[in-house]
Amino acid sequence: MKTPERYTVTAALPYANGPVHIGHLAGCYLPADIFVRFLRLQGSDVLFVCGSDEHGVPITLKARNEGISPQQVVDKYHHLMKDAFAEFGISFDIYSRTSAPVHHETARAFFLNLYEKGELTEQVSEQYFDEQEKTFLADRYIMGTCPNCGNENAYGDQCEKCGKSLSPSELINPRSKLSGMAPVKKETRHWYLPLDRYQNEWLGNWIDSQQQQWRPTVFGQCKSWLDQGLQARAITRDLEWGVKVPLKDAEGKVLYVWFDAPIGYISASREWAAQTGNDWKPYWEDQNTRLVHFIGKDNIVFHCIIFPAMLKAHGGFILPDHVPANEFLNLEGDKISTSRNWAVWLHEYLADFKGRKDELRYVLTSIAPETKDSDFSWKDYQARVNNELADILGNFVNRVMVLTHKYFAGKVPLAAFEPSPELEAISSRVYTEVPKMLLQYDFRQALVEVMNLARAGNKYLADKQPWKLDLEQNRETVAAIIACSIDVTAKLSVCLQPFLPDTAAKIQKMLQLEGRSQWDSLLTVHLPEGHQLGAPEILFKKIEDAAIEAQIQKLAESKNIAASSIAAIEPAKPPVSYDEFTKLDIRIGTIIAAEKVEKADKLLRLQIDTGLDQRTVVSGIAAYFKPEEIIGQQVCLLANLAPRKIRGIESQGMILMAENPDGTLYFVQPGSTVLNGSVVR
Ligand code: MF3
Ligand code: ZN
Repeated sequence: MKTPERYTVTAALPYANGPVHIGHLAGCYLPADIFVRFLRLQGSDVLFVCGSDEHGVPITLKARNEGISPQQVVDKYHHLMKDAFAEFGISFDIYSRTSAPVHHETARAFFLNLYEKGELTEQVSEQYFDEQEKTFLADRYIMGTCPNCGNENAYGDQCEKCGKSLSPSELINPRSKLSGMAPVKKETRHWYLPLDRYQNEWLGNWIDSQQQQWRPTVFGQCKSWLDQGLQARAITRDLEWGVKVPLKDAEGKVLYVWFDAPIGYISASREWAAQTGNDWKPYWEDQNTRLVHFIGKDNIVFHCIIFPAMLKAHGGFILPDHVPANEFLNLEGDKISTSRNWAVWLHEYLADFKGRKDELRYVLTSIAPETKDSDFSWKDYQARVNNELADILGNFVNRVMVLTHKYFAGKVPLAAFEPSPELEAISSRVYTEVPKMLLQYDFRQALVEVMNLARAGNKYLADKQPWKLDLEQNRETVAAIIACSIDVTAKLSVCLQPFLPDTAAKIQKMLQLEGRSQWDSLLTVHLPEGHQLGAPEILFKKIEDAAIEAQIQKLAESKNIAASSIAAIEPAKPPVSYDEFTKLDIRIGTIIAAEKVEKADKLLRLQIDTGLDQRTVVSGIAAYFKPEEIIGQQVCLLANLAPRKIRGIESQGMILMAENPDGTLYFVQPGSTVLNGSVVR
């Protein structure tokens, strides 16, 4: 099969607001890497680019939550992600970042090109504004109730529950994610990409022409956008963090993150070109180049509609040939979530399972969510590694190596042998069908086909049982069986390369094979008689139960923490004025006596020296404190709470306690001893 000469392959730029997890890998980075490794085996000229997406509200929100700057957030995660991808062996030609100067320059030039050509429209509209924070509330800064499904925590750009994309004005009961307050509407001016016009001019037809090629889920989503009628889309925002809009009178405005991020693919290509002395232009401008975007399904509209519209409006660029978007990978039956720590993090996997990269590649490809969501579970991971990789592929290769050493001093015993028709059929199927499957983005099935060759080899040896034959009397037969098995092993070392690169390299090392790094080597990999093999090496060790239990335990812990913290963090209360606050008389006192209240498990009767007086306070802390242990402790007291009778005792005030998410109570105390009666304000 003839492949086009040149490919530009992109993998979605991940937000630099958290580490890489298996959902990212299965969704786009791993299929992209398999595809690219295969194209390189075919001899195609491929540029594979990626980088960190460092702008947008996900980054600034993270910075705010952690009390650090957005730059600190992206610096931390950019390096973490870059290193994890490199260690895992995702074979990017470049992993760049959108805070790089080359990107700011490329994105600004792109915007100016559209602006100067008059492609953009300028509109003043009313947008939500947080009066307390003095800021417009773009995208994820605003939350409210989804008009579609009633989810109370929908974002201004999307409801994550039902998946509908939204605009802030559609939210019911909108509230600011920053202050919790209801926003007001305020006028602001922005630049828009006229998608409505493009739809009629060319975009609608262009999408329609993809129906036969693109996955039904991808085409279907695009179609439903078109059916609703595209609308002009704002490509600027009132935010501080991002690529500054390169115009006068655009103070405080940046490019919308979904405008700048995909331009990041081009910036990354330029950076690669500068680093390697290559020309980036053919990869983006030559009509013979195929542009392929690997993404997750939440990115479809941006890569199939908005970015192509941008490229076309700019002019000179090729449009994507294919956008193989995957569905989502779940973990142990639950949606993967960075904020709930419900994930298998790549950097942790690499630390916990040293030398087992291919095991993860194998499992994630076997369960790839290509046509529907799929589920990763640790037990399934263990079963696939042990029963498939170790018992089939590993066992076969090991037997071949050991038998060759045992019977023939590690030398290929025969060059010519009667091939097994079954093995022959399967390997020629791998040679012709696997490329077709890969070029149709059917990675899961392609891996099944390759594994079928290992399966057939394993079965062949098990059926022939050469170890049961007497070598002296059956030398010819044994030699043929071994030679035939070595041949299958050599073929596996070629066709496994896109999927399990480390394993393929190990097999080639064992076979003392070099430079078989073309798909066509499958036809020519035949080893001569007398060729000396290297030492056998175990390809896959079985995964012990204990290792799996440890991972399951780790997940159980994050579930507990997430459950307790989500349940416990109370929603914000409505604001109070400073005057109202000053009405509260909060001061420090010392507990001078304490005893249990009879027939009340929870209550203690405390005597407090308040500096003003000594008074009785009844407090519901008996489950946490023994009376004798708290005498002498200083506490915060709400001293002017109207007296109330509790179990017949008049309580003159209330001591303030901090309540942990698990319900445990602690005194709120001054940092060092202060005079009783000191005021808290
Ligand atoms: N950062 C986005 C996400 O994680 C993907 C950006 S892809 C790009 O969903 F095309 F914009 F770069
Ligand atoms: Zn919804």
